[in-house]
Amino acid sequence: MRASPFLQRYGIVGPLFVNDVSSRMEVSMRTRIAVIGAGMVGGTCAQRLAERGYADVVLLDIVEGLARGKALDIQESLPVAGSDAKVIGTSSYDDVRGAAVVVVTSGIARKPGMTREDLVMTNAKVVRDVCENVARMAPDSIIVMVTNPLDAMVQLAQQVTGMDRTRVIGQSGVLDSARLRTFIAEELNVSVSSVSAYILGGHGNTMVALPRLSSVGGVPLVDLLPRERIAALVDRAVNGGAEVVQLLKTGSAFYAPAASAVSMVDAIVLDKKEILPCAIRLEGEYGIRGTVVGVPVKLGAEGVEQVLQLELTPEEQDALLKSAAAVRETVAIMGI
Ligand code: NAI
Ligand code: 2OP
Repeated sequence: MRASPFLQRYGIVGPLFVNDVSSRMEVSMRTRIAVIGAGMVGGTCAQRLAERGYADVVLLDIVEGLARGKALDIQESLPVAGSDAKVIGTSSYDDVRGAAVVVVTSGIARKPGMTREDLVMTNAKVVRDVCENVARMAPDSIIVMVTNPLDAMVQLAQQVTGMDRTRVIGQSGVLDSARLRTFIAEELNVSVSSVSAYILGGHGNTMVALPRLSSVGGVPLVDLLPRERIAALVDRAVNGGAEVVQLLKTGSAFYAPAASAVSMVDAIVLDKKEILPCAIRLEGEYGIRGTVVGVPVKLGAEGVEQVLQLELTPEEQDALLKSAAAVRETVAIMGI
């Protein structure tokens, strides 16, 4: 297999191992992925990325010992995991220099009773600071935003960095759709790999599930389950983040969010051109201009290579517009 254009651009020459033998390819270990924030999501992202072995991983946090401690722990796991990635824990942006992808997870997480929007002012300050540094040290990178409130943070990051909208992308739809896929698979007692589901819109209570376009083994979901059951599964997925927060009590979900963000990094680094629901600032698509919401995109070496335009019903379109309006309200709180 030939190295992807993305890997070629970052100077790829030695052997690389990823999980699947069919994915072996010729690359160097010098591609660098930075994860900003070494908390629950950031630490888990760093571990998953390091295990893939396709790049070195820089884990950065303002709490220096935290990043260095987690990086060292992950590094020491790699002989067992079978990866030669280097994992660097730091609080200095010098180590982010030239990173190809930057995953931003820094900020505070939701506590019980808090909405994502409650986070906006604190996390806006954090994300602004992080993005100014990323723009300085890794201006050619692709940013995968995770920090909440997600859509507003993508919008802020794009404005602060001045990077093209196709290179500042948010993780939301992969996670929200994965939650719905989980519940559909449990309900029908089938493999999750047989279930496809789409959730678009903002990463909040106004997210837009599209059961009409969900399927199980190619059979439309609407032909397999009664409308009320589908509504119940969608409702659980929409409130999936809050359900985990209520159980954990001290923080929010991190395994599924990290897996989702890393699947986006895979699509970029391996130039998979995978169709994934991602948050991006729309410029007229779906009748929305200048607002970030989740829509299906083709994700590859150049970031978002295409925004896919689904044919929505009037109800779905209306729900997406309402979701975009909710994102605009959150953005307005930041005054940008
Ligand atoms: P956490 O509290 O475990 O980790 C956050 C880390 O950010 C902390 O280690 C903190 O020291 C660090 N940090 C704070 N300010 C910083 C700065 N200026 N520079 C560098 N690091 C800084 O939180 P967790 O659970 O990892 O969540 C992180 C963020 O991701 C939260 O905003 C959360 O709401 C969001 N999130 C988003 C999801 C999504 O689907 N988009 C899913 C899950 C979480
Ligand atoms: C979630 O959906 C908190 O946004 C985070 O779990």
